[in-house]
Amino acid sequence: TDVASFIAAVPKCELHLHIEGTLEGELVFELARRNGIDLPYADADQMKRESPFHDLASFLVGYYRNMQVLVTERDFYDLATAYFTRATAQNVRYAEIFFDPQAHTSRGVEFGTVLRGLRRAVVDARRTLDLHVSLIMCFLRDFPAEYAMATLMESLPYREWIVGVGLDSDERGNPPVKFEKVFARARAEGYLLTMHCDVDQPGTLDHIRQALDVIGVDRIDHGVNVLEDPALLAEVVQRGIGLTVCPISNGFVRGSAWEGATKRLLDTGVLVSVNSDDPAYFDGYLTDCFLRVHRETPLSIAEVRTLARNAFETAWLPTTLRTRFL
Ligand code: ADE
Ligand code: ZN
Repeated sequence: TDVASFIAAVPKCELHLHIEGTLEGELVFELARRNGIDLPYADADQMKRESPFHDLASFLVGYYRNMQVLVTERDFYDLATAYFTRATAQNVRYAEIFFDPQAHTSRGVEFGTVLRGLRRAVVDARRTLDLHVSLIMCFLRDFPAEYAMATLMESLPYREWIVGVGLDSDERGNPPVKFEKVFARARAEGYLLTMHCDVDQPGTLDHIRQALDVIGVDRIDHGVNVLEDPALLAEVVQRGIGLTVCPISNGFVRGSAWEGATKRLLDTGVLVSVNSDDPAYFDGYLTDCFLRVHRETPLSIAEVRTLARNAFETAWLPTTLRTRFL
């Protein structure tokens, strides 16, 4: 087989996927109609055309604006089910998906509405698609730490439905240490820990250092800037910290500066995985992300296999599934 066919066929695991980032324009319009919300665009094409972005902050504007159409439990169910169907078609067998409860509670949608809708989709996907999914709750780092702590407390009745916590949204001026207490409490509650150290954010090497030493993360989302610091890089390798890299969103937002980063991380012995981040916005689901890496730096079948395996290796799988996938 050629490499592209192998990429399409290999069983995959996705670890860095914002479920709100899978909200396709067509679904935005369908949910708006269903919920009686007026949109200032005629259709999905116009909306996309008139919502350009060039960096993390400008991306987040459209991302939060569009998700206002998510209101009912059924909306969250439909959002997740659409992603699960697409992912399964690309041979994703296991996914740990991020959700941003504060993006919804901050506009009056109840925490339980979000959780019940997502959970029901997870349960149905296991039955109808044989796709296994775990939920990771992300705190929005541009809100105060107290709001994150309150959200953590609100999650405790749903503890069994959530495998871990993460940190996302606008990183500028919002370092990991801002959430030291929140993550310590999350750890004490049994959650596993990850956080975004987005590419080329101001202070990114300090943020990675804090995530490792102060927070004690189990994984890092993005984190490709470790390539600039040999000591940090060696530590990530030695501690077996997984980096969930997103080849398309990296390139899309920042130009080509980080082309080839995935391969360089792989060659250095980092447990790097390939992920799609916000596929509805960056125009590529998981197979497309692998193909992007292959286009940047040609991969052998063995390297594709290692990248796919790294994701399962650094996933937070229950023991029964570990033995099934590894
Ligand atoms: N929220 C959704 N996608 C994100 C990303 N790539 N970085 C930070 N916050 C996000
Ligand atoms: Zn992300």
